[in-house]
Amino acid sequence: MNNKKLEQTLVLIKPDALKNSLTGYILSQLSEFHTGLRFAATKIVHVSKMLAGEHYAEHRGKVFFPSLLEYIMGDLHYPNEPEKHRVIAIVYQGADAVKKIRDIVGPTNPHAARDQKPGCIRALGTVVPIKDAEGKVIGDRMDNLIHASANDSDAEREIKLWFRPNDIPPFMHAYLTDVSRDYYFYKDGKLYTKDEPGGICFLVPGDTVWKSDLETLRALQQGQAASDTLESVVAKYLINEKRENY
Ligand code: RTP
Ligand code: MG
Repeated sequence: MNNKKLEQTLVLIKPDALKNSLTGYILSQLSEFHTGLRFAATKIVHVSKMLAGEHYAEHRGKVFFPSLLEYIMGDLHYPNEPEKHRVIAIVYQGADAVKKIRDIVGPTNPHAARDQKPGCIRALGTVVPIKDAEGKVIGDRMDNLIHASANDSDAEREIKLWFRPNDIPPFMHAYLTDVSRDYYFYKDGKLYTKDEPGGICFLVPGDTVWKSDLETLRALQQGQAASDTLESVVAKYLINEKRENY
């Protein structure tokens, strides 16, 4: 991000924060009065497995990954209450947005947060042991209330994953946009440009999209290597769609 005033970062208020009624507290800690940052976008999201997997793609294969997906999808804090499965996604904008928010959020592990930075948001979180089928502890899940982008390139990837351009006011756009000229469908991990029985249509001509998404789709269509996964594009354009199996 060259223009510092347009610097953006993604915050997710996670299910444990919603369950513990900490939303108001978190918003007030991150308010313009404290940070000098402004809202560029907000959204209540029912997190699909595809979106969760793409958001935490760097942790795929780790022992805590399945538990991390269940956590961000809301399954752990609201079992049997799918209507409560949601996170609040927010884009904050302003000079040094990434660093300012990470400082207030604090260390990943809530125990470390309490030790190293009392008063930070994650000092209010908990660490929960993850057990295998025999009840043996195999790792930790960190219920740390909030996600914040770690650097500018993560912020760009994450904001483009959770928000479509029209979720953000036009004069607050930090990334290039384009307009789809085609229909795009998704089925069983594959991309189609014509209706496919059982396929899900996720973009139609005239939809405003991130330019990088169209580049990804066009590369995949031509069988070339793409900078993003198909799922990272599909998951976003299907946010809050009531569909099965994604
Ligand atoms: P976040 O992405 O949520 O803002 O957290 P972060 O940058 O501080 O930490 P990151 O390494 O990106 O991890 C993402 C989330 O995965 C869980 N985690 N668990 N058990 C573990 O060793 C471990 N490491 C990470 C945490 O819930 C963390 O927020
Ligand atoms: Mg992170």
